[in-house]
Amino acid sequence: LDNVPHVFTILGASGDLAKKKIYPTLWWLYRDGLLPNVTWFVGYARSKMSLADVRAKCDQYMQVKPDEKEMYEKFWELNEYVAGSYDGRRDFELLNQEIAKKEKNMSANRLFYLALPPSVFEPCTTNIRNTCMATRGWTRVIIEKPFGKDSDSSAQLSNHLASLFKEEQIYRIDHYLGKEMVQNLMTLRFGNRIFGPTWNRENVASVLISFKEPFGTFGRGGYFDEFGIIRDVMQNHLLQILSLFAMEKPPSTNPDDIRDEKVKVLKSMKALKLSDVVLGQYTGDPDGEGEAQKGYLDDPTVPAGSITPTYALAVCHINNERWDGVPFILRCGKALNERKAEVRIQYHDVPGDIFGGQAKRNELVIRVQPGEAVYVKLMTKTPGINFELEETELDLTYTNRYKGVKLPDAYERLILDVFCGSQMHFVRSDELAQAWRIFTPLLKQIDGGQVTPIPYKYGSRGPKEADVMCDQNNFKYYGSYKWPGHKL
Ligand code: BG6
Repeated sequence: LDNVPHVFTILGASGDLAKKKIYPTLWWLYRDGLLPNVTWFVGYARSKMSLADVRAKCDQYMQVKPDEKEMYEKFWELNEYVAGSYDGRRDFELLNQEIAKKEKNMSANRLFYLALPPSVFEPCTTNIRNTCMATRGWTRVIIEKPFGKDSDSSAQLSNHLASLFKEEQIYRIDHYLGKEMVQNLMTLRFGNRIFGPTWNRENVASVLISFKEPFGTFGRGGYFDEFGIIRDVMQNHLLQILSLFAMEKPPSTNPDDIRDEKVKVLKSMKALKLSDVVLGQYTGDPDGEGEAQKGYLDDPTVPAGSITPTYALAVCHINNERWDGVPFILRCGKALNERKAEVRIQYHDVPGDIFGGQAKRNELVIRVQPGEAVYVKLMTKTPGINFELEETELDLTYTNRYKGVKLPDAYERLILDVFCGSQMHFVRSDELAQAWRIFTPLLKQIDGGQVTPIPYKYGSRGPKEADVMCDQNNFKYYGSYKWPGHKL
């Protein structure tokens, strides 16, 4: 990437995503010397404001250390702001002129980040295609969910994008694909002899993929209510983890080889039914503090009487030779008792037990956050002069093993991947279509008001019915073991 100029344009530069995530990420990449030598940044949005205004909005999120002040100034010197509409061709022609000024007639590459509401995705991408494409370098477009609301609307967006850009130019972000432990799934499995041979229905009883957050939707309820937790987290982040976890070994680590295998997993899954899920909505906890006293429906931006789920558990099956009969339980929720994202593989009971039923199931746990870790829960003889059994673990906790190693934020990795042209951690159109196929019928029933979510208290583990569903699906919860590895 040497000295080829790169211009990174942020559309929606005045918005929330831009100030909280995109500008900070660009600054950190710049600070750490990871961007191409000549990289310019152009913000674009409707608001008439100055670059200083954009900067003022971002400042509090940029985490500038005292000795970085000078570099921080330099970063902003590489920035520009252009105001314009999202549907006016003329405005985009002006944007193009600004970009071209930075390129100084050299062969240059262009990146466009659409930090925009979905209602303007279409006109904006059309205008980029018509007026802002690089003439002597490449152009790449980065977009974020929501990619539609169901199969039809998503297909419409995909067709629209396909009419403008080649698949290699489209980078669909699912930021979970940028997380360390999600990226580690393939290495753990295919880079070790011990796990691969157990990765099947003969050994695995069930797989639980969880996402828990200890806060509600407050302030974001209006947006959230249109989508619900399934579209917000399950259909994308959790399903991505599932497909990476369950896929066959790809012929190589080439991005399309990997994505081909992920698509095959999704194709082997049936569309979910209402009977496969437990849905919940949080209520305020009268004994809680502050926000915890407020339920989802107390959020003024949420329509009165909304039945949008803030919690969902879904039992999926992969109908192939490896996984037939193994429940894959996806579980996600807001306003729960803790923050945690993990993959938990529970093995079958040991056949031919000689310990009078004392042996508990092995588990391999891949902790995505907080506190990245991999640990195996296993039985050991209680140390000392006796012959009891107890549960313990083989533990790879990153903060212990990799002291002082800083793990980059998901967005840093993903944006860098776009510069490098690696689509390994981005969602391909066919993958997206399959993901919607699995969830659309269920979502239609939920949207149609066919199910009322079960209330659960803010700060609880979610509806009891979800635990029952896990139990019915070969996931045993003993409650006897606490992993000591994770202390924050
Ligand atoms: C987003 C969801 O995609 O992921 C949010 O829209 C959720 O509702 C967020 O809070 C979680 O991301 P992370 O990286 O904080 O786990």
